[in-house]
This record gives sequence, C-alpha cells and structure tokens, in this order.
Amino acid sequence: MARALVTGSTSGLGLEFAWQLAGTGHDLVLVSRDQDRLAAVAEQIRDVHSVTVEVLPADLSDREELERVALRLTDPVDRVDLLVNNAGYGLRGGFLEVGVEDHEKQMDTLMRAVLVLSHAAARTMVQRRKGAILNVSSLAGYTTAGPYAASKSWVTVFTESLAMELKGTGVSATALLPGFVQTEFHERASMSMDGLPRITWLKAPYVVEQALKDTAKGNVLSIPSVKYRTAGEFSRIAPRPLVRAITSPDWYRRLQARSVQRSQRRASRRNLHAPWQREDET
Ligand SMILES: NC(=O)c1ccc[n+]([C@@H]2O[C@H](COP(=O)([O-])OP(=O)(O)OC[C@H]3O[C@@H](n4cnc5c(N)ncnc54)[C@H](OP(=O)(O)O)[C@@H]3O)[C@@H](O)[C@H]2O)c1
Repeated sequence: MARALVTGSTSGLGLEFAWQLAGTGHDLVLVSRDQDRLAAVAEQIRDVHSVTVEVLPADLSDREELERVALRLTDPVDRVDLLVNNAGYGLRGGFLEVGVEDHEKQMDTLMRAVLVLSHAAARTMVQRRKGAILNVSSLAGYTTAGPYAASKSWVTVFTESLAMELKGTGVSATALLPGFVQTEFHERASMSMDGLPRITWLKAPYVVEQALKDTAKGNVLSIPSVKYRTAGEFSRIAPRPLVRAITSPDWYRRLQARSVQRSQRRASRRNLHAPWQREDET
C-alpha cells in the first residue's frame, strides 16, 4: 500500500487531498499546526476508509518542527511514496503594511518548507527509484501581486527545475497552479472576496482530482480548468507592464471598490421597483 504525506491537511485543498488519497487506498501522514483539528480529521478518515492515518503536528515555519517532518520523509521502513507540499496562507495588506517578521514566517512556510521537504523526500525516493512530489503553487506566481506571488513563482520554477533533475530516476515533481479556490484561505487572511465574479471560483474536489491525475501522469505543471489554463498562458506571454498594471499589489483594494460599486448598483436597481417587486433583504 502506498503512503502520502500531506502538509496543511486540516482544511481546504490539503483536507481534500487527504480524503481523495485515502479513497484510493493511500495510508496517510497528516501535517498541520492545529492538533485538535488534525486528530479529528484523522479519526473521520479512519472511520470511512481502511487506511492508517498518522498525525504529525508541526508549524512548518519553525525550523525544528520542520526538521521532524523532514525526518519522517526519510524513514526507510514506513516509507512515504507521495509528498504533497500544500500548506500555505496569504497575508492581508501591502508589503509595507505588514511587519517584516510576518513576511519572513510566510516565506518560511511557502518556500523554505517546500525546499527542505522536497530535498528530504527526493533523496530518499531516488534511492528507491520510486515516488512523486506535488508542490502546491499558484497562478498568482505568474503575476506581480506582492511577496505571496513572488513565493509562488519560486515554487513553480523550483518544481520545474526539480522535475528536470529527477528525469530518469523514477521520481516525478509536479507543480499545481490553481486559480481562486473555495477554501478557508481568504477568510483566514480576513480578505473579503465579494467583488470577485462567481465564475472565477473553483471547487477543491475538482482541483485536487485534476492535480492527482497530473501527478500520476508525471506532468510537470497542473493547471485545473480551461479558463485558468488560458489565464495562465496570457499572463506568461503578456507584456510585463500590462501584467503589472492588472495584478499590482493594490489589486485587493480595486476588488473592494468593485464590490462597493456593485452593491450600490444593486441598491439603486431595487429602488426603481415598487415595494412588492423588491427582493427580500435577507
Ligand atoms: N484557495 C485559493 O484560492 C488558492 C489558490 C492558489 C493556491 N493556493 C494554495 O493552496 C494551498 C492550500 O491553501 P488552501 O486554499 O487550502 O487554504 P486553507 O483552507 O486556509 O488551508 C491551509 C492549510 O495550511 C495549513 N497551514 C498554514 N500555515 C501552516 C504552517 N505554518 N505550518 C503547517 N501548516 C500550515 C493550515 O492548517 P493549520 O492552521 O492547522 O496549520 C491549513 O490546513 C496554499 O499553499 C495556498 O497558497 C490556494
């Protein structure tokens, strides 16, 4: 039976990875900070699927705790066949509004942890000539939306380079580049996404299914949905001044402004109708 280690498995994409992998018979090692939530997820999965689920609570921005996870990846007996580097979060506010310690912590989680865990996993997997690494990046990495985007750009380039280095070893590396996905990501960063059209959102089960298919095929990049593959191509080949103009770090402020305009338009449309024609305000 194969075993997968998934970081950030208490919610969103990581939780979905855990369920889908358990559903296809993978034993699991689940890594996140919230111990109670991890234990609850593990119990729920064990109740439904006949797989073993280990929990390994760790804050991946902490060097010692990260080292424990790296050690687990090099275990020669209870080996890990698939590493999913998924844990991550956003920070609300521009570069100067956020303290530099918070930026550093975020970079340690988004980049350093991916580097260290990929290194530990790849070395062990290459010895066995078998294994796969799936790094959750983001389409934001093709944009200029602040340190988060820069970190995700690093994850994509790093994974592409690792995939080339691993060619012929029996081990693969895949970067997942999702667009907007309905998870706890934006709520945790206190970002209201009301101004975003509904069509832009993807659902976690779909994104994870596509990512696992691409990983099984050994594809280097996984970009779920035609709309986001098109957006990805556009942002890759578009002139950089245009990309900068559209995705500059104040994109969130513009999104909020659009949201306010929309609700004002909706309110004025309501006022054109007689009271009995108005929609309920609930
Ligand atoms: N949602 C989107 O629109 C979107 C788009 C593109 C890419 N992504 C990427 O997808 C990945 C998963 O995010 P999500 O959308 O599923 O968000 P989410 O629902 O907020 O889940 C994030 C997970 O990461 C864990 N985590 C955060 N910081 C951690 C740390 N320092 N150490 C260990 N675990 C940590 C959280 O668990 P604990 O709090 O228990 O630690 C949680 O399980 C991230 O890398 C994100 O950048 C998301």
